[in-house]
Amino acid sequence: MKSAYRGLEARWHDLFWEAEEGPSELLLLDAFLQEKDGRALYVGSGSGRLLGPLVAAGHDLRGLEISPEMAALSREKFPQAGLVEESWQEHEGSYGAIVIPAFTFQLFEDPQRQLQRLRQQTDHLYLTLFFPWAELSGDLPSNEWYFDRSMTLPSGETAELQTRHKLKEQTGSLVRRHRYLMKDAEGEVMRREETEQRIRFFTDVALKKLLKKTGWEVEKEIFNLGDGEEDDLIYVSTLHLRASEK
Ligand SMILES: C[S@@+](CC[C@H](N)C(=O)[O-])C[C@H]1O[C@@H](n2cnc3c(N)ncnc32)[C@H](O)[C@@H]1O
Repeated sequence: MKSAYRGLEARWHDLFWEAEEGPSELLLLDAFLQEKDGRALYVGSGSGRLLGPLVAAGHDLRGLEISPEMAALSREKFPQAGLVEESWQEHEGSYGAIVIPAFTFQLFEDPQRQLQRLRQQTDHLYLTLFFPWAELSGDLPSNEWYFDRSMTLPSGETAELQTRHKLKEQTGSLVRRHRYLMKDAEGEVMRREETEQRIRFFTDVALKKLLKKTGWEVEKEIFNLGDGEEDDLIYVSTLHLRASEK
């Protein structure tokens, strides 16, 4: 499946997140789960970087991860955190709450169907979605490769990420190609991998309509992971959703 993380993308996932200065979702997830009863499911739990600490904090939370490489990292680092290695679309179950942080939901095809399916599995949903302002405004060039970020690996080599995107505004999707380059001290490329992701995005109006249609109502909305000023552009939106009354 295309949305599963693998290779350097899986191996470097946490290092790139750690190198980023932005706020973590950990406190937001912890606060949401504290108010919920019963077992919760974390869809796309990745390397366990958030799952592990949440389980250690006492939450009855089970991870679900499609990528065998990400699941292996999670088991190795957080063996105490229960994990199912399966695609969300195949997974059956009933939960007190479901959490889908870090825009994983936007990797899924047919959001309407997924929201209906989530509604059958739980009454309480936590979703974090990102909105591609930088791509839409032209701050990031489309259809050309640009430097995204780089860092020094613990082994001394350089990990570099280049990105190229294409916007499909009509269908509300962003196709992002990533090029992962491992370079030695002289800047010679030792390894190179490319991946592609299709990310669906929603305007506020379209999202609220979709939620209503699929039986969800917004209980709480947190902007930019609770960081920044009130009138900042909203790049990231975290939603606490509950089943609407029939
Ligand atoms: C953006 S990463 C987020 C990982 C993790 N939530 C974090 O914040 O560190 C998305 C994760 O979702 C997983 N994933 C993608 N599609 C999936 C699916 N259909 N079912 C389960 N996991 C999926 C990917 O393999 C990847 O590990």
